[in-house]
Amino acid sequence: MRILPALTVIGLIASAVSSVPAATGPLMKAAALQQYGGPEVLKLQEVPRPEPKDDEVLVRVIAAGVNPVDTYVRQGRLSERSLDKQPMIIGYDIAGVVEKTGVRITKFKAGDAVYAYLPIMRGGGYAEFAIAKEGEMSLKPKNIDFEKAAAVPLAATTAWQALIDEAKIDKGQTVLIHGGSGGVGHFAIQIAVRADTLPASYGIVKKGGAIVSITGDPDPAECEKHALRCSGVMAHPDANVLDELRKLIEANKITPIVSQTSPLADAAKAHQQIETRHTRGKIVLRVGDEPGR
Ligand SMILES: NC(=O)c1ccc[n+]([C@@H]2O[C@H](COP(=O)([O-])OP(=O)(O)OC[C@H]3O[C@@H](n4cnc5c(N)ncnc54)[C@H](OP(=O)(O)O)[C@@H]3O)[C@@H](O)[C@H]2O)c1
Repeated sequence: MRILPALTVIGLIASAVSSVPAATGPLMKAAALQQYGGPEVLKLQEVPRPEPKDDEVLVRVIAAGVNPVDTYVRQGRLSERSLDKQPMIIGYDIAGVVEKTGVRITKFKAGDAVYAYLPIMRGGGYAEFAIAKEGEMSLKPKNIDFEKAAAVPLAATTAWQALIDEAKIDKGQTVLIHGGSGGVGHFAIQIAVRADTLPASYGIVKKGGAIVSITGDPDPAECEKHALRCSGVMAHPDANVLDELRKLIEANKITPIVSQTSPLADAAKAHQQIETRHTRGKIVLRVGDEPGR
């Protein structure tokens, strides 16, 4: 009689820390979190394979990109702001092959090689299978392998949305890019031409010029003082941007640089590297075999 309440308490704690539902269907391997914390909380484990809804595509993931935001979610920093409703499998960049489509999917079919930028609210990239929606994915550039393709979506979309959609850069303009060796920066340089850290930018950018920040909103007082058009950008998935990036990559105008590729089981080591904040190009996790291998 005295054991029963204790067991009940243990059961409640278990269901609070584990959101992986009981397996009823096929399983897959994923580098998943059971709790927020340091890189060590990322553990390779078997979890239920997702099933696509009518408007979803199930992708067999061959490679998954690693981004700084992955570490923020892993630490629980976005959870505090209710930005990650499903933190168990992180990863927002994938390249892979369509496994199965929902009945309302018209643009993709099983077997298509694709790449996708998954929203922060869903994630799911560090796994053998992930769900994407049509508005988040595009056909993979044909001239690069899956690992390079997985390096593209989030970082290159961020650079695109900052430079093209927000700053509205045009031919002949001079662009200053900070952090040009990193994931976003190396794409930004290739998308634009060239321009230092945010405080240093106020005095450099000409009056009437624009500052677009991806690391926090610019100081309005400094912007007013220097007569600058200032804004911050929060990148979001956009299939049209992935289409445009694919064309530029296939025309050899943009080349993703991958400086480190690790097996999915080494996701924690990949996080240690991205947390140095001095990664060259991109880090990618190898999840599955390329078709034909
Ligand atoms: N707003 C958004 O939607 C959005 C989207 C993507 C990324 N981000 C943010 O943008 C930042 C860069 O992302 P990323 O993917 O490019 O990261 P990353 O791959 O880790 O690259 C970091 C880059 O920042 C440079 N850097 C580090 N410390 C610096 C400093 N004090 N001053 C100037 N540059 C510095 C590094 O160059 P060195 O090694 O030469 O120092 C490197 O080029 C991160 O803070 C990330 O969270 C925001």
